[in-house]
Amino acid sequence: MRRSRAAIRRPALHPYRALAVGTVLLLAAGPVALAPAPRPGESATPAAFAPPAGTGDRGAPLYLEHCASCHGEQGQGTQRGPSLIGVGPASVDFQVSTGRMPVSQEVQQPQRREPAFSADDIAALVDHVDSFGGGPQIPQVSAGNLTSGRQIFAANCAPCHGATGSGAALTNGRSAPPLYDATATQVAEAVRVGPGLMPVFPGQVLDDQQVNDVTAYVQRLRSERLDRGGNPLGRLGPLAEGLVAWLAVLALLVAAARWLGRRAGD
Ligand code: HEC
Ligand code: HEC
Repeated sequence: MRRSRAAIRRPALHPYRALAVGTVLLLAAGPVALAPAPRPGESATPAAFAPPAGTGDRGAPLYLEHCASCHGEQGQGTQRGPSLIGVGPASVDFQVSTGRMPVSQEVQQPQRREPAFSADDIAALVDHVDSFGGGPQIPQVSAGNLTSGRQIFAANCAPCHGATGSGAALTNGRSAPPLYDATATQVAEAVRVGPGLMPVFPGQVLDDQQVNDVTAYVQRLRSERLDRGGNPLGRLGPLAEGLVAWLAVLALLVAAARWLGRRAGD
């Protein structure tokens, strides 16, 4: 320790030693930089690490900028979008985490897309809309029974989403989407809030365990589809396929270089 300090003070610093000192300083500083942001109550932290004020404050400006033009400043609704009073956290989380909201213009059926916000911003939006008046909470999904899930799915979901969950056309150009991209939470949210043309399945129809069961089954459909061979790359799109091909070539090149190296070493 004393040595490295002396090293810093010395004008002509040997490059290796400079590197070593730099590494030590980095290692020492790393944990500080990586330390989690302190909770609101905690003190004795530098101003730069001050936490953002509660998520409610962050949700308000996000909401005003991205949602209020259609849903109204207090969520009362406008000609362009329905009221959000009483829709509740599950609905907001579903709509925003599946990228359906925000839409840029009114559309007949908002489609699933990459979400426009980070998980933290989505949580902040959820809290803010919840403050207008709540509805169903975000479901906590836990392990489910596949046999029971399959029966529930066949009776309640397959008529619209198809027996394998691949989706199907409904009326008026609307469709029940494929279920292969939804996370477990999003499946349970859809069941509890009934987005768009989908019916709501309240607790009296499917209790929490039944929602766990059907969610587990939908996740199974998703992995079965991926395992089934067929054309699993098809759904990744050209970019991902290109990446996979590129990685395969890279792996071959590395193998070839290793082999040549070993030959040269013999
Ligand atoms: C261009 C207008 C527009 C914008 C901007 C917009 N929405 Fe919507 N939103 C709609 C419309 C229209 C619907 C109804 C869609 C349908 O028929 O399925 C809707 C539906 C919803 C629903 C479902 C309501 C229900 O009854 O279950 C939620 C939740 C929602 N939006 C949240 C948001 C949030 C949060 C934002 C901002 C991040 C946002 N929306 C931005 C127009 C908009
Ligand atoms: C009457 C037809 C119908 C039935 C029955 C139905 N759904 Fe849906 N489902 C839809 C429609 C339509 C949508 C798209 C909603 C929208 O416009 O945002 C949807 C959306 C979903 C989504 C979102 C998919 C995604 O990737 O974003 C999930 C998950 C889902 N449904 C699961 C279920 C499950 C599980 C059941 C059975 C318990 C079920 N659905 C029953 C019509 C239906």
